[in-house]
Amino acid sequence: MLILGAEDVRQALAGAEHEIIEAVRRAYLLHAQGRTAVPHSVFLRFPDDQRNRIIALPAYLGDDTPVAGVKWIASFPGNVTEGLERASAALILNSMATGRPQALLESSTISARRTAASAALAATTLVSETSETGASLIGCGVINFEVLRFLRAALPELGTVTLFDLDRARAASFTERCAELWPELKLLVADTVEDALAAHRLVCLATTAAVPHLTTSACRPGTLLLHLSLRDLTPRTVLAGVNVVDDADHVCREATSLHLAEQLRCNRDFISAEIGDLLLGDHPRKRDEERVTIYSPFGLGILDLAVAALACRRADTLALGTRLADFL
Ligand SMILES: NC(=O)c1ccc[n+]([C@@H]2O[C@H](COP(=O)([O-])OP(=O)(O)OC[C@H]3O[C@@H](n4cnc5c(N)ncnc54)[C@H](O)[C@@H]3O)[C@@H](O)[C@H]2O)c1
Repeated sequence: MLILGAEDVRQALAGAEHEIIEAVRRAYLLHAQGRTAVPHSVFLRFPDDQRNRIIALPAYLGDDTPVAGVKWIASFPGNVTEGLERASAALILNSMATGRPQALLESSTISARRTAASAALAATTLVSETSETGASLIGCGVINFEVLRFLRAALPELGTVTLFDLDRARAASFTERCAELWPELKLLVADTVEDALAAHRLVCLATTAAVPHLTTSACRPGTLLLHLSLRDLTPRTVLAGVNVVDDADHVCREATSLHLAEQLRCNRDFISAEIGDLLLGDHPRKRDEERVTIYSPFGLGILDLAVAALACRRADTLALGTRLADFL
């Protein structure tokens, strides 16, 4: 059994943005080709507690070297005020020869980076007539920090970033961290969410909003909205947009904005494509220059497996982690 703690995973994945995006792209392609198994995630919630949850994401990815496993990820938003991250996670990889657990990884970094890689992949797949030189990030937490890391890797012309968070202190500390790491970036903090929506045609939503609070009326025509937090947009806003998802069966669940839109419309015809099908085509998809395109990835367990397998391979090369010979 290989055990990779948080620091091992961070070291193993350091500087691997392009490899992670490629692993995520391949996972979506395999999913579109029917070479995956992705049961619905199980949401464990607690009596009299609307805020906290732990989700299990079991999955199988039929790559040349197939992998199976499960991610078990907790979301406790109150952690942030205690100086802890909202999300924490463990992932088990199983052998496809024997079924036996082979690796145990701390996986909040894996989870954040696969989510950010999915966003960056969407940004390079759903392309505009003009290249993206700026992006707005709404919600200044762990996920949007990783999104910025991956957007920078995928979109080299990105030079300006506009930030918005309900908690201005979070926006300020996010700005400080970015300025330290990427001094060449121009960083602006918007006064209102509408200002942030209007600032650029690439917008990423990663808030902890549990119920819809936002429309896209402030967005410019042709905006690509990376709707990672899944519950920000009103159902009518979803219905008015061009919707691309990772998997319609997964994303229309658990009171996401798309789930609410489906309930309102009584069908899923408002979803125009799944990302894997777009990737199967040879060329990036030109996005609608008049409407808002909304990318809502539920976050499939196959992405975690793909990035965990990559982390294990890189950890092996770098001799990272602890091996426990007598685990079983
Ligand atoms: N789709 C996926 O695959 C996927 C994967 C991982 C996380 N997520 C989601 O991404 C979101 C962000 O995760 P995180 O780890 O960065 O959380 P975080 O707690 O680190 O940061 C969230 C930030 O959003 C801010 N915020 C909350 N409500 C807001 C609002 N209405 N407007 C503006 N800002 C607001 C908070 O102040 C906080 O700074 C969560 O909802 C999480 O469930 C999605």
